[in-house]
Amino acid sequence: MTRPQLAEFMRRMEPGSVAIIPAAREVTRSHDTEYRFRQDSDFYYLTGFREPDALAVVAPGREKPFTLFVRPRDREKETWNGRRAGVEGAKERFGADEALPVEEFDAKLVELLDGAGTLYYRLGGSNPELDQTVIRQLARMRAMGWRKVRPPQTIIDPATLIHEMRLFKSEEEIKLMRRSADIAAEAHREAMASARPGMKEYELDALIEYVFRRRGSAAPAYNSIVGSGANATILHYVDNDAELKDGDLLLIDAGAEYEGFASDITRTFPVNGKFTDAQRDIYRLVLDCQEECIRMVRPGVTLDEMHQRSVEILTEGMVRLGLLKGEAPKLIEEEAYKKFYMHRLSHYLGMDVHDAGAYHVDGQPRAVEPGVVITVEPGLYIAEDAEDIPDRYRGIGVRIEDDVLVTPEGFDVLTDKAPKQIEEIEALMKGSRQ
Ligand code: GLY
Ligand code: MN
Ligand code: MN
Repeated sequence: MTRPQLAEFMRRMEPGSVAIIPAAREVTRSHDTEYRFRQDSDFYYLTGFREPDALAVVAPGREKPFTLFVRPRDREKETWNGRRAGVEGAKERFGADEALPVEEFDAKLVELLDGAGTLYYRLGGSNPELDQTVIRQLARMRAMGWRKVRPPQTIIDPATLIHEMRLFKSEEEIKLMRRSADIAAEAHREAMASARPGMKEYELDALIEYVFRRRGSAAPAYNSIVGSGANATILHYVDNDAELKDGDLLLIDAGAEYEGFASDITRTFPVNGKFTDAQRDIYRLVLDCQEECIRMVRPGVTLDEMHQRSVEILTEGMVRLGLLKGEAPKLIEEEAYKKFYMHRLSHYLGMDVHDAGAYHVDGQPRAVEPGVVITVEPGLYIAEDAEDIPDRYRGIGVRIEDDVLVTPEGFDVLTDKAPKQIEEIEALMKGSRQ
């Protein structure tokens, strides 16, 4: 049976065209060992096939529209490196109309492309060697005109179609994203319950990954950020090797990948379980901002409008707290807020943590629609050596991040099982210490 995503892709392709979609390849970590393999999102979306070194050739309207080139079965290689579906499995389990050993791709290419007016292939994508193969065979075809070979006239990037499809999550995909969000929320709760002064950030990093794996997540969706004290003010802090200090805040940005779908949660909480007044000031402001921005989510709103609102709320709050001096509108115009709020509020979320899909249409910010999942993640990051600000705010970093599904009526927060109200966090942490 054809996977619905592949069937839809074929419907959207030009009549008589052919697409070549490569799988990811293994990447060396050191000497002769590889990083844990992670399938290419577009390839996985269309095929559901998890092995490396495969290629999908999609040709709607042909007798055999879906061909998978795969690593063939090989007793010795499978004994060393693991099982393969092989050409039989590609047909039986992955719905390929035709399956061939990947070594035969080069020799088959002319035949596959012959007569296709349009080739969908992402030149300059993740596989430069494949680019060379495609270019070489196209050149050969052009030189073979006298043999009635008809090379494609147009080359289109298939990502334009696939990414547009990936932006809108099906019911089935939303289920997987809910599960991914639940797993990540559980990991954040466990981290809150376990954090103690004297622990190392990496202990919580490991605990989070353990909770992910225990619940069937293959891996974190991105490198977890576990930053205590001023480390929380470094946006992509991943050293995760400092000691948690009594009186510091801890910022954890960690999400799971579950059946190919990411969650992306940030929570910030006090290492000792109790916010100080200064921490509370900053936290309240970020939380108020986040809650108001989440309430804006509904079909028709743009991420730009939401971001702009977050800038207003945070700038006005920073003036109140003495972090910025002057009138909010002027500070916004001069982008003075960027000293403490330097990233965007939202991004798409799906198979990739910063997911596929166009943010602009015809040069204009694009409105969200039902089935789109976004993050809402305002933050304030006050460097230890920030000048001209009240002392008590130095070295405080706070971000609060949830994953939000756009629904026909408005929004659905997928990650609401991760506590973020001050009282909830303090109660959970107090309970874990008795
Ligand atoms: N963890 C990456 C992000 O929040 O966008
Ligand atoms: Mn994010
Ligand atoms: Mn994040």
